[in-house]
Amino acid sequence: MGFYERHILPRAMNRLCGVGSLQPLRRRVCSGLAGDVIEIGFGSGHNVPSYPAAVKSVTAVEPSDLSWKLAGGRLAATAVPVTRSGLDGQSLPFEDDSFDTALSTWTLCTIPDVSQALSEVRRVLRPGGKLHFLEHGLAPDERVRRWQRRLDPLQQRIAGGCHFTRPIVDLLEGAGFTITELDVFYEPGPKFAGADSLGIATSP
Ligand SMILES: C[S@@+](CC[C@H](N)C(=O)[O-])C[C@H]1O[C@@H](n2cnc3c(N)ncnc32)[C@H](O)[C@@H]1O
Repeated sequence: MGFYERHILPRAMNRLCGVGSLQPLRRRVCSGLAGDVIEIGFGSGHNVPSYPAAVKSVTAVEPSDLSWKLAGGRLAATAVPVTRSGLDGQSLPFEDDSFDTALSTWTLCTIPDVSQALSEVRRVLRPGGKLHFLEHGLAPDERVRRWQRRLDPLQQRIAGGCHFTRPIVDLLEGAGFTITELDVFYEPGPKFAGADSLGIATSP
């Protein structure tokens, strides 16, 4: 990780991911989380205020030390115990079947080997466990997809490896999950950036 990735990007992400208009989406995706939860790509903890009371503990997987530090205020304000216990979603240091539910928001775009990360999430979820996801990816419309493909190389360079073009539902199904809830929509603003998939993927 260079200076930009260590010091600039986490601050920029903290700002962008912290905008108030995203809070209703965060509440939606967190609804129904329960028990011992793993959150991959925890960032600076913008989901923390939306954890439901049924959440017993959260294990945060986040490579950026600065993002974890920027989460400090939100961590201090919650009654839910949150522990940072992993640095890379591609290799989770936990036993099989360790978690009841999992959470990923705007992270599957960035993890280099996303299929490996999803198979790791499946491994550590108990059978029947649910991954709650809110992810931007390949748009439903071909006209928007063309723009996404054009802008993807630039996006990867300025946003720490983030892709516009990942087919989120295909990736989840390819990792063996069954999609049990799904809403696909554009966020306000440029469509190429915000073709979101929000839902629940259930492990067999
Ligand atoms: C756009 S941010 C989203 C942060 C947070 N999930 C949110 O909704 O505010 C993407 C996050 O993925 C993290 N990330 C990047 N590579 C990762 C990896 N290999 N494993 C886990 N997280 C990773 C980044 O450090 C960053 O915090």
